[in-house]
Amino acid sequence: MNNLWSGRFSKELDSDVNDFNSSLRFDSRMYAQDITGSIAHARMLAATGIISPEDGEAIVAGLEGILADLQSGALVLDPAGEDIHMCVEQLLTQRIGDAGKRLHTARSRNDQVALDLRMYLREALGAVDAQLKELIAAICEKASANLETVMPGYTHLQRAQPTTYAHAIMAYAEMFLRDRSRLSDCLARMDVMPLGSGAMGGTTYPIDRSMTARALGFAAISQNSIDGVSDRDFVIEACSGLSIIMMHLSRFSEEIILWCSSEFGFLELDDAYSTGSSIMPQKKNPDIAELVRGKTGRVYGSLMGILTVMKGLPLAYNKDMQEDKEGLFDALDTVSQCLHVFTPMLKSLGVRRDRMLRAAQQGFINATDCADFLTKKGVPFRDAYTASGKLVRYCISCGKTLDELSLEEYRAVHPGFDEGVYAAIDLLTCVSGRSLPGGPAPDTVAARIRAVEDQLH
Ligand code: ARG
Repeated sequence: MNNLWSGRFSKELDSDVNDFNSSLRFDSRMYAQDITGSIAHARMLAATGIISPEDGEAIVAGLEGILADLQSGALVLDPAGEDIHMCVEQLLTQRIGDAGKRLHTARSRNDQVALDLRMYLREALGAVDAQLKELIAAICEKASANLETVMPGYTHLQRAQPTTYAHAIMAYAEMFLRDRSRLSDCLARMDVMPLGSGAMGGTTYPIDRSMTARALGFAAISQNSIDGVSDRDFVIEACSGLSIIMMHLSRFSEEIILWCSSEFGFLELDDAYSTGSSIMPQKKNPDIAELVRGKTGRVYGSLMGILTVMKGLPLAYNKDMQEDKEGLFDALDTVSQCLHVFTPMLKSLGVRRDRMLRAAQQGFINATDCADFLTKKGVPFRDAYTASGKLVRYCISCGKTLDELSLEEYRAVHPGFDEGVYAAIDLLTCVSGRSLPGGPAPDTVAARIRAVEDQLH
């Protein structure tokens, strides 16, 4: 392939060097953004009189034809091409002749690639955001069905205080809501149109940058031509937002893996979302959750990769920056694949309320409420605390839970106990009493679910 820049050179590029240098195998996925950006650029060039209206029309029609043919599959890009920008320009000139050679007036691939990547990323992040929305909606739905599903809450992975399955999974809804707002912050900051930066020094042509920005739906134009071509903060922010999403998905996955184990037995994987073992017939493995947890590593890798690529680069564009794309694309693909399977897996999880309740009963997580019962009858808290502690010790010695003790057993420890204690230590009572904002009480959680659902709509 004869490169567009071959004028200065007397030899053909070595073919291995060409392969090494080429970005086409990964940047071809931006062909639609590249062509759309070029159409806006050509229209602006014609509108400002930099090229003739006829050339402008020929370029736009030619680019639209190339776009349609790539979309339909009628046209396949020559893999020997250097990058998507060169390929499109070469195709255009093959198709429409000399007018095609005017497209790149007042532009460089440096500002072009900065534009394409922003355009690609704003669509891709929009798609991830839509997937997050679906996941949050699924969590809300599951939570609504489990407002009174009592389970132990944990600190240090030790049973701590009573909560509900709804309250526990709504914690993840809060995380994914923050993830959405992080994506929208990133989108707002990257909403800047870099064309006009040229190679790095701007251009002497009287282009109308704002016109191109408006045509492409950007809120603003970049304010420094050097920064315009050398800024990849938006890639780093995107990879960082994607990494945090994966971190949340990974924690949730870890929880699901634990809760599906026989030791916990709180959740039951649907057969469609688990796999068997080739040797152990009894196994039902949470592979999806494990893969999501595992794939988190590669998304972090993309973030580390781009941070490292950028850290030593002098101004302005350097070819190192071509390395921004593969990691970013892989991170986007990975997050999107994970969300694609995670949400239906979550929906299909069976909730074993009996097991959750049993675990909650066995952890004496209502011992505080038992002491509070006496305190509310006028017994000083420290005495009540001691009485409750004695009851717990007694329960452990005879393998009982607090609610299985008879009233005689209670009164043997402290005469202040009466029939009312059973209601006071009932786990649902304990949960319902924690009705402050943010607490696990069914009404409180239901109100939060409604507010989140309203926010989604
Ligand atoms: N393929 C290049 C990239 O992805 C496009 C910009 C090339 N610019 C240059 N001066 N060689 O970064």
